Amino acid sequence: MAGLDRPARVLVAGASGVIGGALVAALDADPGVGTLLAVGGRAPPPLPRPDAPGRHALACDLTDPRALAGLADRAGTLSAGGLDLVINAAGLLHGPGIRPEKALAQVGLAALHQVFAVNAFAPVLLAQALLPLLRHGGPAVFASLSARVGSIGDNRLGGWYAYRAAKAAQNQFMRTFAIELRRANPAAACLLLHPGTVDTPLSRPFQSGVEPGRLFAPELAAGHLLAVIASATPADSGRFLAWDGQAIPW
Ligand SMILES: NC(=O)c1ccc[n+]([C@@H]2O[C@H](COP(=O)([O-])OP(=O)(O)OC[C@H]3O[C@@H](n4cnc5c(N)ncnc54)[C@H](OP(=O)(O)O)[C@@H]3O)[C@@H](O)[C@H]2O)c1
Repeated sequence: MAGLDRPARVLVAGASGVIGGALVAALDADPGVGTLLAVGGRAPPPLPRPDAPGRHALACDLTDPRALAGLADRAGTLSAGGLDLVINAAGLLHGPGIRPEKALAQVGLAALHQVFAVNAFAPVLLAQALLPLLRHGGPAVFASLSARVGSIGDNRLGGWYAYRAAKAAQNQFMRTFAIELRRANPAAACLLLHPGTVDTPLSRPFQSGVEPGRLFAPELAAGHLLAVIASATPADSGRFLAWDGQAIPW
């Protein structure tokens, strides 16, 4: 990360997911990473080197404020009071009782609640819980995985009401957080990142229309995301960027 002059203290939420797991693997292999906290949702995720110093697997339901307070306490202890990089790779597109809607008639309140809870509310609650660990005055990045389909300006196909709207809401939450983060730590940046279409269980039912060469392996996607994060400066805070660093319209 630009300007960081000590071993990085990193937390990855959604580390039990495929992109989150690939991010953890890449960060674990980076000699510049001193502390790596891999946070799963339902259970602590497997670590590439569980016995290596500074590597810890935790679990936290990001929609539960009490669990988030516990996570912040534990992260503060394990990282000696500060984090240099937080990546939120949690998300929800489909699952039991949840399918992306093809038409308005399929929109349902229970699914709206769940999809908004994970894709929109969890990122802002995670930011709230971890802000005290980002106030240290040194370079810091809070990056949250959004999705291009959350772009209102880019919405030409329709459908996917809950997921699109929840990612758009996340974008507004994080844009607003970026302004507060700048006051709390002028050397920090908050980024919204679109990983591209990545071969994971989340995208698997919807991969048929993806152009050849545009379905990324998780390891490749993790490399893209870490490159965008590594080149980010505080001037980029509040931006919505694709895997190749290009800005996406709101
Ligand atoms: N794959 C793609 O093509 C694609 C494209 C655009 C954007 N994205 C975004 O990239 C991110 C990662 O996607 P992925 O494909 O890696 O998905 P994934 O493999 O399904 O992983 C999703 C992760 O979210 C976690 N999660 C869900 N609900 C949670 C909760 N309440 N509390 C804590 N964690 C929770 C899951 O943890 P548990 O299973 O342990 O609960 C899991 O670690 C998501 O935000 C997704 O929207 C993906």
